[in-house]
Amino acid sequence: MKQKVNVKEMGYYDAMAHLGIPFFNWGGLKATEELIEMCKVDETKSVLIVGCGSGYQAFHIAEKYRCKVVGIDIAENMVNWAKERAENSNLDEQVEFQYGDAMNIPFDDNTFDIVITEFVSIFLKDKDKAFIEYARILKPGGFVGINEIFKSNENPPEIDEKLKEVEKIFEQISCLDFPILTPKEWKDFFEKAGLVDISAIECEPKQDFKEMVKSVGGKWKFTKLTLKILYYTMTRSSLGKKLRGVGRVKSGFRKCRDYIGYLLCVGKKPI
Ligand SMILES: C[S@@+](CC[C@H](N)C(=O)[O-])C[C@H]1O[C@@H](n2cnc3c(N)ncnc32)[C@H](O)[C@@H]1O
Repeated sequence: MKQKVNVKEMGYYDAMAHLGIPFFNWGGLKATEELIEMCKVDETKSVLIVGCGSGYQAFHIAEKYRCKVVGIDIAENMVNWAKERAENSNLDEQVEFQYGDAMNIPFDDNTFDIVITEFVSIFLKDKDKAFIEYARILKPGGFVGINEIFKSNENPPEIDEKLKEVEKIFEQISCLDFPILTPKEWKDFFEKAGLVDISAIECEPKQDFKEMVKSVGGKWKFTKLTLKILYYTMTRSSLGKKLRGVGRVKSGFRKCRDYIGYLLCVGKKPI
């Protein structure tokens, strides 16, 4: 018998998993590929994906680079979804998913060659602690690669105001932190965690529509998901309220698009 789910009680990303949204990072797999190159992933490396969501990027890396990939996430629904996908794939020997908090990573020091984390650190209450954790579980010589939203250093006052509004709306609907930081502020976390050779690329805020369709399994499934989202958006449910908030966040971001983007930033743990 199917268990009744209580969406109202769910955390924001548990609800997004319940809806069936497979990925969130700006830049999609193109951005992940750039991080992979910057972090020098190959089949001899072990990779930890922090905030792995449904495992979208983890499966891509495991399949393409034939390396061992572990994903952790704090949303149980995301982890269960990723585990289910692993069981139904031919990658179950290579990928592994478990519950885990970025600020208290459940692995020993010097375990992984690479940490990749996309659209996660922005939400963390203690970002300093998280970056120290990323560095701690890396082997010496290993890389941390992040993909995070950034804003320009200098913005017209109306843009700063709009971004503040976006932060507030998203914080309200997700109950998570959502400070939009500058590239310098992101790089500072790497430095404070003792990472070196820090390099960064600033990219325009892009989502590839074709990739979004493909990621959910084609046009028909994408249409079904869109209709489901539209349906919830029009309801008075808590999910409807969240989704209307997401709409406002997206529209706020569109108005600021010349001043924001996604930052790919990589640092190395000293040998
Ligand atoms: C915007 S989604 C990004 C998912 C995936 N990385 C992607 O780019 O598609 C943010 C993810 O971070 C996870 N997350 C939030 N706080 C976390 C924490 N403290 N530890 C681990 N994961 C966390 C959420 O559950 C969610 O799956």
